[in-house]
Amino acid sequence: MTKKILRVLNGEAVWPPPVWLMRQAGRFLPEYRAVRATTAGFMDLCTTPEKAAEVTLQPVRRFGMDAAILFSDILVLPWALGQELRFAEGEGPILPPIRDAAGVAALDTTRVRGAIRPILETVRLVRAALDERQREGEGEATLIGFAGSPFTVACYMIEGGGSKEFVHVREMAHGQPELFAELMDKLVKATITYLSAQILAGAEAVMLFDSWSGILSPRLFRIHVIEATAKIVTALRSRFPGVPVIGFPRLAGLMLGEYAAGTGVQGVAIDTSTDPSQAATMIPANMALQGNLDPLALVAGGEALASEAASILEALKGRPHIFNLGHGILPHTNPEHVAQLVSQIRAA
Ligand code: CP3
Repeated sequence: MTKKILRVLNGEAVWPPPVWLMRQAGRFLPEYRAVRATTAGFMDLCTTPEKAAEVTLQPVRRFGMDAAILFSDILVLPWALGQELRFAEGEGPILPPIRDAAGVAALDTTRVRGAIRPILETVRLVRAALDERQREGEGEATLIGFAGSPFTVACYMIEGGGSKEFVHVREMAHGQPELFAELMDKLVKATITYLSAQILAGAEAVMLFDSWSGILSPRLFRIHVIEATAKIVTALRSRFPGVPVIGFPRLAGLMLGEYAAGTGVQGVAIDTSTDPSQAATMIPANMALQGNLDPLALVAGGEALASEAASILEALKGRPHIFNLGHGILPHTNPEHVAQLVSQIRAA
């Protein structure tokens, strides 16, 4: 029987809806912190397949999640293209910013295949473990591969790390449109290579995280979010017609409908600020919606969590829906609250 998440992404309204959480493998779990403590840094964890596979599987074992999301990071792609990357403790990612033609030219697409080998090994290990769990009757979690979408990855590459406004990015997109387009073009191609390889290694669906799509003007959103995503989806769907793509255009707001119609994705993830009922009117009835619990409601737990979750379940009942957060889980989340949420959904 087809796995629940794949049925939903195929347009079926499964009830109760399947559930997984963005960033479900990570610092909120003591068993994650234990594995992380045995590695020199976050990138070492991402590039050590046995350990990355172990932390990918932890939330599936503990909560019976309907998906395992590959443990890696969206910044693995710039790293694979040769841009230096480090994660400073408590500060997030740091990269040497790319601001000129020489910086874009230095990105080497021929490095990608070699650099991503350990990530693909993780995919193979996780898929084998999930197949084994299924044979043993322990559940049927779907393996979701992912990449950042080219625009969001470009944000970190140009800014050199995180930012609230990504001023340098928007300045380049408006002021040096040809250079920006050249960078986007390299990223689109590298993303197709990277996601195709994940699918060949065993990913059953893939997700594109566009965390910063909402900072663009509508005209530039059409070019750098919708058109760029459409190129990736078209390439993947022609090679792997059975593998659905979930897009997460965070903060897309009123552009959500155009995104759904123009990209070719099978599922749209919505952020916390998007009303699920409104979102449902903006996308075709057979397109899956994923989301969109506030990660802070999960931190709060109790009645606050129960009411938020109930209102999302109610709003999307009868539609293809994958229950998830509207953004990543926070490190100080109590794992008991996640267990509470999963039982509430199972009992719906
Ligand atoms: O969802 C999962 O459980 C799979 C793994 C995953 C990570 N990052 C692991 C991670 C995924 C899917 C991501 C996506 C990601 N990474 C995004 C898109 C989603 C979003 O949150 O908007 C972005 C923008 C990044 C870039 C990134 N990685 C930042 C800004 C940071 C630092 C801030 C933070 O949350 O720590 C990271 C580090 C990171 N990526 C950690 C994890 C578990 C924490 C590192 C650690 O454990 O030391």
